[in-house]
Amino acid sequence: MIITSCGNSIEIAKKLARKLKVTYSPLTISAFPDGDIYLKYNTPLKGKKVVIVHSFQPHPDMSLFDVIFAAETARTLGATKVILVAPYLAYMRQDTQFHPGEAVSSKIMAKLLNKSIDKIITIDPHLHRYKSLKDIFTIPATKVTVNDLIAAYIQKNVKNVVIIGPDWESYQWAESIAKQINVPVTVLEKTRYSARKVEVKMKKAILIKDKNVVIVDDIISTGHTIAEAAKKAKKAGARSITAIGVHGLFVENAVDKLKHAGVNRIVTTNCIQHPTNKIDVTPLLMEELKKEKK
Ligand code: R5P
Repeated sequence: MIITSCGNSIEIAKKLARKLKVTYSPLTISAFPDGDIYLKYNTPLKGKKVVIVHSFQPHPDMSLFDVIFAAETARTLGATKVILVAPYLAYMRQDTQFHPGEAVSSKIMAKLLNKSIDKIITIDPHLHRYKSLKDIFTIPATKVTVNDLIAAYIQKNVKNVVIIGPDWESYQWAESIAKQINVPVTVLEKTRYSARKVEVKMKKAILIKDKNVVIVDDIISTGHTIAEAAKKAKKAGARSITAIGVHGLFVENAVDKLKHAGVNRIVTTNCIQHPTNKIDVTPLLMEELKKEKK
């Protein structure tokens, strides 16, 4: 087995290689003067399993393209199996045609990957209208969840906790984590008017006054969703607000927006590298890859 990366997730890729005692060999990726991609492996692949570790952020389009080029090249060079480890898998939120004429990006992304790779392992993908990755992937697709690690983080670092899931989809994280550490939880109802305008309502009221609120969501993108939830919690008398995101994309001025809304602490996993990373997903991925080493 050899482990490589197309540029993102290099730290995780190196750590996995070290722990699994396999070679980490970075790809050379650059562009020709006209913008065409140039990609080169720097180690022989014949007869080897190739693991491409690559989160689809930043630059989701380029990431998809890089991964497909890397996978196809690995096959041409004689790899026996190509596994994509994508700690963050982009495009999953466009899982239906919200308006006539739209591309269902998640299906297109999966169709392209189905052709080029043999297996995908990803962490807490955005499964909302899809029940499982099998709805779009024909290749073996493994979903790993960080719920246990988030639960352990909260237990160690926050006392007198209530958990808020800012929208219906977030129940898969919020409720499961709350159950594990036995704390109250409520999931808000979100209406999204546009990419940058959301509204949340608390349908099931819980006692928030003087509590340390932890808002848990899978993705923090523009930060609007968590900011709206934080404003509600602040108004209800929360003592402190911690925002935990599995995937911290932090586009535009998301961090400032969260702070402005009253969030005291922002915590993410290292699925996407960011200064807020506090939860390391490498051990979870290592368990999955160990099965491939046998
Ligand atoms: C969507 O349903 C996701 O679970 C997140 O709530 C959403 O992607 C967050 O986006 P933003 O930070 O832009 O509000």
